[in-house]
Amino acid sequence: MKLLHLSDLHFQSDAALNPFGRLDSRQLFARAEFVWQGRPALFRGAAAAVRQLLAEGLAAGAEHLLVTGDLTAIGLREEHEQARQALSAFAGRLSVIPGNHDRTSRGSAPVFESVFGDLLSSELPALCTAGPYPFVHFAGDRVAIVGLDSGRVPTIPGVARGRVGEKQLSALEAVLAHERVRGRRVVVAVHHAPFGPDGRPDRRFHGLEDAADLLAIADAHGVSAICHGHIHHRYRIDRPGQTPIFGAGSSTQLGREGYWMLEVPEVMAGIPIAGAVTDAVAGPIRATSRPPSAAER
Ligand SMILES: [Fe+2]
Ligand SMILES: [Fe+2]
Repeated sequence: MKLLHLSDLHFQSDAALNPFGRLDSRQLFARAEFVWQGRPALFRGAAAAVRQLLAEGLAAGAEHLLVTGDLTAIGLREEHEQARQALSAFAGRLSVIPGNHDRTSRGSAPVFESVFGDLLSSELPALCTAGPYPFVHFAGDRVAIVGLDSGRVPTIPGVARGRVGEKQLSALEAVLAHERVRGRRVVVAVHHAPFGPDGRPDRRFHGLEDAADLLAIADAHGVSAICHGHIHHRYRIDRPGQTPIFGAGSSTQLGREGYWMLEVPEVMAGIPIAGAVTDAVAGPIRATSRPPSAAER
């Protein structure tokens, strides 16, 4: 099963250029930060970049698309709707999770679920313990994608730290032990990064607070891959004998456009598998990035 992994599309709306009167104070701060970081120019070509990348992914045989958060610049409805429209080439085989940019204020936090709600329904709804999360999507004959929400409205403006939380972590354990998931290869999607590109934990005010807990669960249950975004570099972290981690970077950032394509080997449908389908059963995931990483060149 070929899984196309994009992240951090950062669609922006022209409406935000005339923000006064229609944005709350947190959104105004987020907009100012976006401008101050020079991002409006970096993401102006988001729609064209997504169009190009999805066309390439389809030509390369991608069967399912995963987008790991930060679909928007400051969480506006118009930005969410632009992102949804841009991803329509994968309608019916699309998994998306929110990032911190999609939850800039308490008022705008539910917009992600409002625009993408129909895509968040789960194969195991009884195990959704935090709104629609964690959700489970089946892809191909033997792959399950589990979507987590780590995007929290910051307590202090500008803090971009994420947290999965106890409710979702215990539900994740229940998902991984569930009879409908055992026998499938599992890909876990989370916006924040367990590690930076150097293999060390991300910065305190930018990282995933409970990364160690998430990794312990993933490793114990033989999760095949963790996919994330948030850090705008594309890289992978390999930990021998443990779950590999793929950071898709920003797929639309000018000069850094790209994705990961994960080829997830599955055992043939119809063969009963008692436990988790792991590398030992079906072989390791093959992953290629666009542009090719140094290891692939
Ligand atoms: Fe981002
Ligand atoms: Fe982010």
